[in-house]
Amino acid sequence: MYDFKPAAPLPAQELYRELLASAGALTEGEPDGVANMANVAALLWEFLPDLNWAGFYRVAPAKAGGVDELVLGPFVGRPACIRIPFGSGVCGAAAASGATQLVEDVHAFPGHIACDAASASELVVPVLHDGRVIAVIDLDSPTPARFTEADAKGVEALAVLLSDRI
Ligand code: SME
Repeated sequence: MYDFKPAAPLPAQELYRELLASAGALTEGEPDGVANMANVAALLWEFLPDLNWAGFYRVAPAKAGGVDELVLGPFVGRPACIRIPFGSGVCGAAAASGATQLVEDVHAFPGHIACDAASASELVVPVLHDGRVIAVIDLDSPTPARFTEADAKGVEALAVLLSDRI
């Protein structure tokens, strides 16, 4: 039986250290990226309090004449928009720029895509492989300004771990 969740509330640094260790153990040696994303989405949901969505969007190459887009991957939470063009919303901004998006108030973010009306703040971290964005990790919270720089750093470390595991 797996019991991958913190035994008690932890300070951010320790929380992310445990989360990373669990993600490393669960994905080590497993070549199936979908299985790894599914388990990591579940871990994020177990470890991080006050979320209403945690999961992945993967990069889908552009069809002829189109732009690259993100397509929904494994997640925990309510059903969500399936395809997001690069540059659209918080996820599309992270994918297009390759930079973490830490958004305290999603309603103030130009082009924010509301999949769940309850979402108030959001953290999106790109996953890079060989210098290219291959996916983004998306976290949503019903609490304004839920995410901090410590969350951004922790999820960025997770993205590095997953670079060749998804
Ligand atoms: N809010 C995101 C869309 C994805 S959902 O939050 C799951 C965005 O603006 O890109």
